[in-house]
Amino acid sequence: MAAQDPSLWWRQAVVYQVYPRSFKDTTGSGLGDLNGVTEKIDYLAALGVDAIWLSPFYPSELADGGYDVADYRAVDPRLGTMRDFDRLTETAHAAGLKIVVDIVPNHSSRLHPWFQAALHAAPGSPERNRYIFRDGRGPNGDEPPTRWVNHFGGPAWTRVPDGQWYLHMFTKEQPDFNWDNREVREDFLTTLRFWCDHGADGFRVDVAQALAKDLNRDDLDDYGVMSTNDMPADGSHPVLDRDEVHDIYHEWRREVFNRYDPPRFAVAEAWVRPERQYLYASPDDLGQIFNFEFAKADWTYPAMKAAIAEGLACAERSGSTSTWVMSNHDVHRHATRYALPQVPTHEYHQISADWALRMGRTYVENRPLGTRRARAALMLEMALPGSAYVYQGEELGLFEVPDIPWDRLEDPWPLRSDREESTKGRDGCRVPLPWTAADAPVPEHPNDQFGSHGSFGFSPAGAASDPHLPQPKWFKDFAVDVESDDPQSMLNFYRRVLALRHRLQTADTSCRWLDCDAPSGLNDGADGQPGGVIAYARENGWACVTNFASKPAALPGGEVLLTSAPLTDDGLLPQDASAWLSLR
Ligand code: NOJ
Repeated sequence: MAAQDPSLWWRQAVVYQVYPRSFKDTTGSGLGDLNGVTEKIDYLAALGVDAIWLSPFYPSELADGGYDVADYRAVDPRLGTMRDFDRLTETAHAAGLKIVVDIVPNHSSRLHPWFQAALHAAPGSPERNRYIFRDGRGPNGDEPPTRWVNHFGGPAWTRVPDGQWYLHMFTKEQPDFNWDNREVREDFLTTLRFWCDHGADGFRVDVAQALAKDLNRDDLDDYGVMSTNDMPADGSHPVLDRDEVHDIYHEWRREVFNRYDPPRFAVAEAWVRPERQYLYASPDDLGQIFNFEFAKADWTYPAMKAAIAEGLACAERSGSTSTWVMSNHDVHRHATRYALPQVPTHEYHQISADWALRMGRTYVENRPLGTRRARAALMLEMALPGSAYVYQGEELGLFEVPDIPWDRLEDPWPLRSDREESTKGRDGCRVPLPWTAADAPVPEHPNDQFGSHGSFGFSPAGAASDPHLPQPKWFKDFAVDVESDDPQSMLNFYRRVLALRHRLQTADTSCRWLDCDAPSGLNDGADGQPGGVIAYARENGWACVTNFASKPAALPGGEVLLTSAPLTDDGLLPQDASAWLSLR
């Protein structure tokens, strides 16, 4: 059995995503902090993950949850200090965990000193040239250079007092950098080295598809800035997934990643067409890319099978390994997604109770079913070759919090969109974690779903501030201490699955479909969608079988190692369940 080369740990790691402001607060500010992560290293090590990816913890005005960075080489003082970062990294390393840092290179915060300097400098100045400033259209230049709409709604250009406009693909607080400028490139090389020197083992690269832009053409208005759907597959889009973006990553690889021992790795957050993903995952490029097809897939045989096939194909083409993601801070929690009717809408991040009601859709969250499917999905995911990304709280089986009051929301998406049209955005998966059943927020009236003066152990008892997003009453049942004591809990299930994965995993990343893998040919899957059995095996005979069909399925011969739900009395695998077997 081939053992994994330790320097290639990232090829098949379980990476736990920490959204720092919502993980653990040690100061009572209501915001999670770096010391909170350090305090919970034992918890993460016991869970069985290999690495921690820290979403941005940099100084930020939080116009977009920290993805608006005011200083790339510092810690937000509300979250700690560089010394705290170093201590976190040392503690993680001592526990055998790697640290992955989130890099946000497409845009900075408007508070970044460079952008402030650009605002105070003249059009055409070197300061302006670090960002994308243009004159407007129309006789007085008062029409934006293009009609582009930013990712959160509203124009993608904002005018400054002297009449020029700057580009922002996200909020107006997030001006896009000009990556044609050598100074920008050098500065990011310095930032990457800075974090490597502070112990970072790898990077997650935000909006990795958008850095290279070609704005010197006449057809810009024919494109949207963020729509992946109509994105050409030949690199000809003016701002997304251009071939030149890879020159940037090749330089990162050559000048930074490969200069460290062991070489650092990176994973691209790049919503690009599946056939272009391999470019980002190649060994001379970032090294890996998130397979969002898996997160987008409905809980049906064809959708899940296609997403797995895409991931494996990308890995084969790139020579890297695939990644498997079900949840992150941008999409609604998968326990909720799988608990909703599995109609193929691809609206995986747009579900929320009030939005659904407004759209005349039913929002019936069948929690036992969502939990059952989330367990089956975990086993389906964790036996696949490649890395698996676990988003904080999914190990507790947390559901989306869809009903945060409008006046408590933080996400720019709903706040900057027309409320009548909008969902409640991404805050429902970013609610601070419940660590203890005690210290529950106290409701102000019997119908209050949230309450105040308590945080389920997220903040220290008697904290001066409530958690920055409100925790619902039902979080009590999902608290870490409650689940730790319950052998049947999702938390203990995650621990078992990850421990077994570690025992069974080898360096070989081949994967073959088993004969029993087949669509059932019937609409007997979830909510009348096609059913079937996904079954695959690794080289050492470690096999996973998942049944999406209403009819219980026969397992291939072999030793059953673990199941996500009890087998039938006849030893068959029921619907919405997975089994791991040893075929030898
Ligand atoms: C992707 C991040 O995951 C998301 O949270 C953020 O809003 C955008 N990039 C912009 O940085």
